[in-house]
Amino acid sequence: MNGNILIKNASELVTCSGFKAKAGKEMVDLHIIEDGAVLIEEGIITAVGTTEKILSEFDESELKENGFDIIDASNKAVLPGFVDPHTHFVFGGYRAEEFSWRLRGDSYMEIMERGGGIVNTVASTKKATKDELIETGKKRLDSMLSFGVTTVEGKSGYGLDRVTEIKQLEVMKALDNIHVIDIAKTFLGAHAVPKEYKGKEDIFIDYMVDDVMPGVVDRNLAEFCDIFCEKNVFSIQQSRRLLQKAKDMGLKLKIHADEIVQLGGAELAAELGAVSADHLLQASDNGIHDMARAGVVATLLPGTAFSLKEPYARGRFMIDNNCAVALATDLNPGSCFTESIPLVFSLATLYMNIATEEAVTALTINSAAAIDRANTIGSIDAGKMGDVIILEFPSYKFIPYHVSVNTVEKVVKKGDLVFDKTQGGIIRC
Ligand code: NIG
Ligand code: FE
Repeated sequence: MNGNILIKNASELVTCSGFKAKAGKEMVDLHIIEDGAVLIEEGIITAVGTTEKILSEFDESELKENGFDIIDASNKAVLPGFVDPHTHFVFGGYRAEEFSWRLRGDSYMEIMERGGGIVNTVASTKKATKDELIETGKKRLDSMLSFGVTTVEGKSGYGLDRVTEIKQLEVMKALDNIHVIDIAKTFLGAHAVPKEYKGKEDIFIDYMVDDVMPGVVDRNLAEFCDIFCEKNVFSIQQSRRLLQKAKDMGLKLKIHADEIVQLGGAELAAELGAVSADHLLQASDNGIHDMARAGVVATLLPGTAFSLKEPYARGRFMIDNNCAVALATDLNPGSCFTESIPLVFSLATLYMNIATEEAVTALTINSAAAIDRANTIGSIDAGKMGDVIILEFPSYKFIPYHVSVNTVEKVVKKGDLVFDKTQGGIIRC
């Protein structure tokens, strides 16, 4: 494990080449190299090309002598590691009971309004110790790794108070140190209205902005700030106020926007220059045009629409109107309890009419852009981090075709082989 590896003979080296989000028509271009090879040195990609070209520049036996792993990817497709740019993977307890209520016909918002939903998980997360949260968080990261995820975004938001919000973010910081998956941390203190603040949402926003956010920023615990902007949760005005304050404090912005009701969250994301707006099931035409103009990445979460039996976000329309679309799992204990990238892929292609090529872009370079890391991850380009996955199949086209089944055979993180199905799964996490 020294971060040195050569992967050669890939039937398709799907580079997704680029250093920023791809919008609209650009999303189909995967920059594939047939019979491709990639060299990673000390965790960083140093050479990309056809196998013939790379082997003419670098002597294979010399590489071996110098401790490089050599992987023969004949008949296999090689892609950048997937980036999952929207999850809530650190939480205590579960809400299986609520899921069965939803199967009976109760809606997600009804359950929330009668005191269940997010605040239910808040109670369990408050009770959980840091070690317990680390243990369950690590298991979820292991599962993500098996699906080829090499970087994930994780949100707080199951504390809604200073101590627990900070605890959740500290758990993510600890997991970032102990696990090979890199974690981008988001402060989502305004994720729900605690019972004692019902009807006093403005006062809760004051509390978040004055008492909680500075503690998060001073400890350097988050890169992004997010809010659940939704009818009966936080209004557009409250969201604008909190996000503007976050921006003033140096955080980058995200927003849970237009998920259940069309409030204008997409428009707000554009107005504030958010890095991404997420969900967007009900986003208006104007909001979509505004996001395209402002370069806000539209992060779509088809697993959530599926799980909530809500209509899917208009991914096709967004791409046709020049948005940069990213995809994510939204892994959380309520609206979508899954780490499954294959499920997201299947739903995006089959039900959002997103082409397979666009979905690959949406889970690599565009999802990297959704967490402002497109210059370091999300593509196989020289200079980027050596995060690469190898499929069991010769083409990326097998990802949605093998419906909802994991096609990832190997995961290379910073030049080290960390997961290999043929060797029983996780090698190092
Ligand atoms: O992205 N919509 C708000 N937040 C989460 C759900 C969180 C939960 O239900 O625990 C989401 O879907
Ligand atoms: Fe979410």
